[in-house]
Amino acid sequence: MNVGITALATHLPEKRITNEDLSRTLDTSDEWIYTRTGIKQRFLAAEHESTSTLAIQATAKLAPEALSGVDLVIVATATPDAYFPSVAALVQDHFKLQAAAFDLSAACAGWAYALNVAAAQIQAGTSKKALVIGAETLSRITNWEDRTTAVLFGDGAGVAVLEEVPEPYGFKSFVWGTDGSGGKHLHSGATAKTLPSGEALHPYIVQNGREVFKFATRVIPEAILTATRKAGLNVEDLDRIVPHQANARIIEAAADRLKLDLGKFVVSLQEHANNSSATIPLALDYARRNNLLKKGDIIALAGFGGGLTWASAVLVW
Ligand code: ACO
Repeated sequence: MNVGITALATHLPEKRITNEDLSRTLDTSDEWIYTRTGIKQRFLAAEHESTSTLAIQATAKLAPEALSGVDLVIVATATPDAYFPSVAALVQDHFKLQAAAFDLSAACAGWAYALNVAAAQIQAGTSKKALVIGAETLSRITNWEDRTTAVLFGDGAGVAVLEEVPEPYGFKSFVWGTDGSGGKHLHSGATAKTLPSGEALHPYIVQNGREVFKFATRVIPEAILTATRKAGLNVEDLDRIVPHQANARIIEAAADRLKLDLGKFVVSLQEHANNSSATIPLALDYARRNNLLKKGDIIALAGFGGGLTWASAVLVW
């Protein structure tokens, strides 16, 4: 059975913060942020908003028929409203869906992980139609006095509807992986004071940017290459690559390693920064709005993040 994406919607909060805005409160500049990352602005949730309200607002933008028959809701998030109930349960209740619902934690690779899980459930016959949501309020776990992380992240949400699609459309392959030994390079604490390896956990994001950069420039091209081969294709067959939007230099390095034209890579981080699990749906939506995707295109998605985790999927759009 072929499973594909039949609808997509996204939502960004209204509050827009530019690099210039940040440079008024932090020892940073638009020049530093833009040349080192490619980011120009980010959107942050207002006090009354949360990960679930962003997820619900994105889902509400889907046509009513897209929601009809949904029997599975997976929300990839690193910033759930609560330990429980899950954000997915809040979405299920809001739309009164007859659905199983749960959150999935794989940081910025979370949405690509969730696509893999949902597609497998549909192929196994456990579910027929799934909402796969990536939603984050990273602003709530950002140390706004730490210029090394505060400039990188934004809030937002995106949702895809997954169900059976005819040949030749839909997902052709998935790959995913984890290297927990790298967890110390990117973390944000919750109930424990330290990681098992002893590093202190804080309630906000702590990152070794250089280590994450090295990891990302290695796993992104590897994951795309493996997923493409698994789909029986060559990387040259890809029409579009939609990578996680953390740093434009990571995307450039991936294009270089894969010997692919950078123009095939969707770059949208200038508009919304890094939204962790919401980033790839936001980048897909950006590509769609800017006529960078057409029906039948062969696309590779690729995410990486805290864990450390990575995932890639190849699909015919
Ligand atoms: N403004 C001005 N100067 C800054 C800023 C800032 N916002 N941040 C750091 N600097 C300074 C540093 O203090 C350092 O100064 P020093 O040389 O005097 O010590 C200098 O700039 C260079 O710092 P580096 O950390 O070496 O800068 P680098 O070029 O590595 O860029 C960055 C940092 C952007 C974080 C990069 O390493 C990166 O993008 N890494 C990957 C991050 C990533 O992908 N994170 C997403 C993970 S996904 C998830 O799961 C959340």
